[in-house]
Amino acid sequence: MAKEYNATQILKWYLESGIDEALEEKPVNHFILQATTEDKEADSIPVVSTDTSSNSKTPVKLISLSDTTKSAYAAAKAADTLETLRDAMSAFEGCPLKQTAKNLVFGNGPVSPKLMLIGEAPGAEEDRQGRPFVGPAGQLLERMLKAISIERGDVYITNILPWRPPGNRTPTDTEIAACMPFIERQIELVSPEILILVGGVSAKTLLGTTHGIMRTRGKWLEYKREGGLEGIPARAILHPAYLLRSPAQKRETWMDLLAIQQRMSETSQKL
Ligand code: URA
Ligand code: URA
Repeated sequence: MAKEYNATQILKWYLESGIDEALEEKPVNHFILQATTEDKEADSIPVVSTDTSSNSKTPVKLISLSDTTKSAYAAAKAADTLETLRDAMSAFEGCPLKQTAKNLVFGNGPVSPKLMLIGEAPGAEEDRQGRPFVGPAGQLLERMLKAISIERGDVYITNILPWRPPGNRTPTDTEIAACMPFIERQIELVSPEILILVGGVSAKTLLGTTHGIMRTRGKWLEYKREGGLEGIPARAILHPAYLLRSPAQKRETWMDLLAIQQRMSETSQKL
């Protein structure tokens, strides 16, 4: 006779097998989805129905990426405080990650800070709490800042994407493009003296480069937008989630942290 397992044992087995998230009630056949959306992926975004009567979460229509970007730019530009920007992001339907995420993870910290840190996207703990960098990577980031005498409460921290990609996968170019107007506006409204780009995705996105993090870190660069105000000095650092897996790379990051500390002391002397 087959051995019977109770629910706790089955859950434990799921957890050990790496199944730790329930995303949808029904399984999704990705082969079918891929066939219908694949060639449209480059220039359009599947929009998920928010019609509560249907209770369905399958993509119902495709809108063009340029329309999504236009609506995101319009919404971001109209926001003239961080609060209204957060509301505009909550109301934005152009990024499908919103449907699988539990919470919008907006930035937090003081305005006009010396430092603004921008990571990639929320992880599981950030998604649960609705706050950036509160999981293991966030705790390491906090210790890294402390090592150069910076308190977390004195810096503004946010991410390129405000919604967690399922299973922490790397965000797609389409998802990043859809949310780009919001992070650009957030930088304008926060108006930091120095930007720290945390990890490869953040650095690539905001510096508009295809170079990997190993080539962008280790030097001062500039974040600048066409028609924008003055450029902001920017420094890319290795992502703390990566440092947790490859502690040997902490040495490089320590050099970057010291350079940031040095630059901060120079800017405060000018004031
Ligand atoms: N990794 C990120 O890039 N951002 C977070 O908020 C957490 C982990
Ligand atoms: N890859 C990334 O994307 N970021 C890092 O910091 C390191 C490797």
